[in-house]
Amino acid sequence: MKYRHAFHAGNFADVHKHVTLLALLRALARKEKGFLVLDTHAGRGRYDLAAADARKGDESRSGIERLLAAPIADVPEIHDYLELVRRSRKGPHARHAYPGSPWLALQVLRQQDRAVFVETQPSEHAALDASLRAATPSARFVSECADGYARLAHWLPNVERRALVLVDPPYEESRSDFDAVVAAIATVLRRLPTAVLALWYPIKDERDTGAWLERIPARVPHDAAHPPTFLCSELWLRPPDNRVGLNGSGMLIVNPPWQIDTRMREWLPVLHATLDPAPARGGWRVR
Ligand SMILES: C[S@@+](CC[C@H](N)C(=O)[O-])C[C@H]1O[C@@H](n2cnc3c(N)ncnc32)[C@H](O)[C@@H]1O
Repeated sequence: MKYRHAFHAGNFADVHKHVTLLALLRALARKEKGFLVLDTHAGRGRYDLAAADARKGDESRSGIERLLAAPIADVPEIHDYLELVRRSRKGPHARHAYPGSPWLALQVLRQQDRAVFVETQPSEHAALDASLRAATPSARFVSECADGYARLAHWLPNVERRALVLVDPPYEESRSDFDAVVAAIATVLRRLPTAVLALWYPIKDERDTGAWLERIPARVPHDAAHPPTFLCSELWLRPPDNRVGLNGSGMLIVNPPWQIDTRMREWLPVLHATLDPAPARGGWRVR
């Protein structure tokens, strides 16, 4: 069966990914000059957590629903995210909505910014296009039903010469997305060495993920004028060597904006304490 993100929407990994994504977008928007958001694996844009698919695993209960119900310390990035989740729930039939990465990105884009969303499954793409056009008819975005990896070379380098590329594949086949993600980093850096990349990865066994991450810098181009920098943010709810299912969520940021690592050290412990209440089994890490 084809991967359907609706089964996982709003889970702890989505929370981790979307708080990070929003913080990156806000950081890029601090400069006046416009930028392009390129989301290679866009999904359907907005999810209904009350629908049968989402209720099957009920993953949002230990993700966004837990966060919404908890008292949250004063961390601006988490409040920004929760505010947008609440905004996505306004309007008819939206009480149980959960915003995907395209919907969140469009909330941050300014007049001078643009977005491209790529989704390969026709039914998911149709839902994406409809939900975005209904929510933001005038926004400057393109949605494509295509292979997101293949479209990188079409869209980059962009005229603005500033870009945030989100790569969020399903990792259904055991190795292929891990290899494809490294190839995607190489393509992006070759075409736009200053691009900011945000790549989500699952943590099942930390030893495997750690070895994969270690090898990445040697496998991607290093532009002499703009050598790439790498930052990892990880949140896990079960021990990272437990071989059962998804233990943790990782975000690899290439060319991270200034001081985002300092901010991650503020929001990750709060997310961890809320999503993995005592006695905690997981943890968090920035490196
Ligand atoms: C994890 S979901 C994306 C979730 C979305 N980024 C979000 O945060 O709301 C992965 C999506 O990638 C799509 N997909 C799988 N392979 C793809 C490819 N090669 N190109 C574009 N989309 C792909 C799947 O159909 C699925 O909708």
